[in-house]
Amino acid sequence: MHDILDVITSRKSIRRYKWDPIPTEMIQKVLEAARWAPTGENYQPWRFIVIQDQETRNKIGDLSKLGSGKRMTAWYCMGHMQKRFEKIEDKKKRQEVLRFMYSGEVSEFCKQAPVIIAVIGDLQVGSVDVPYDLCAAAENILLEAHSLGLGGCWVHGPVAATRDAIKFKEILGIPTGMNEFKVICYIALGWPQEQRKHPRPKYPLEDLVYWERWGNKESIYAESLADKENV
Ligand SMILES: Cc1cc2nc3c(=O)[nH]c(=O)nc-3n(C[C@H](O)[C@H](O)[C@H](O)COP(=O)(O)O)c2cc1C
Repeated sequence: MHDILDVITSRKSIRRYKWDPIPTEMIQKVLEAARWAPTGENYQPWRFIVIQDQETRNKIGDLSKLGSGKRMTAWYCMGHMQKRFEKIEDKKKRQEVLRFMYSGEVSEFCKQAPVIIAVIGDLQVGSVDVPYDLCAAAENILLEAHSLGLGGCWVHGPVAATRDAIKFKEILGIPTGMNEFKVICYIALGWPQEQRKHPRPKYPLEDLVYWERWGNKESIYAESLADKENV
C-alpha cells in the first residue's frame, strides 16, 4: 500500500488552466477513481457527464457567472464581502476584487477548463446516502487529477439554487424532474496555469479533534515519546 497523504495535502483548487487538452486516458483515470469511491450499501448512484465542447462550457460558464453573481451581490449588500477582503490595503485593488466577485466573473473559469465533469446523483435508486456518495466520488476525482499533475476545482455555486440547477440540467439534457437526478457539483479540470505555491491554510488538528469524549484534547492511549524510546 502507498501512503497518499502527500497527494492529499498538496492538492489545491486550481481555477486557471492552460488551453492544452487532457488526454482521454487521463480523463478515464479520474473517472475510474470516482467509480471506486465508498457508497452507502454499494448503491453506486453516480452518473458523470464529461464536457469538452467549448459552446457547452461557455453556457455553463455563463450560468455559473449568473448564479455566483446573485449570491455574491447579496453578500456584498450585507457587508460580508467587504469584510472578507478588508485586508487588501490598496483601495483600487480591493474594489476590483470585490467587483470580480459580485459580478460573478469569479465563477466563469470553466470556460477555460478543457474538461468539465458534471457529478450527478441518481435519486431513484432508493438510497438516502446519494449526496454523500457523490461527494466521496468528487473528492476521488480531485485527488486522482492532482496525482496526475492536473488542476481541478469543485464548483457547486451554479447548481446551488433550484432554478439554476434546472437550467444546468437543461443545458446537458439531464431529466429535470425533482426526484430524478441531483447535480451535486461540477469539477473543472485542466493543466494548471495558476502558480499558487502552497495549498490554502487549514486549521490545526488540535482545534478539530477530541479523544474518546467531546472536549478531551488528549488521548490516554497515545504512546509518549519516552515509551517509544524504552521499547
Ligand atoms: C462543497 C464545495 C463547494 C464548492 N463550491 C465552489 C464554487 O462554487 N466555486 C468555486 O470556485 N470553488 C468552490 N469550491 C472550492 C472551495 O472554494 C475550495 O475547496 C476551498 O476554498 C479550499 O481551497 P482548496 O481546495 O485549495 O484547499 C467548493 C468546494 C466544496 C468542497
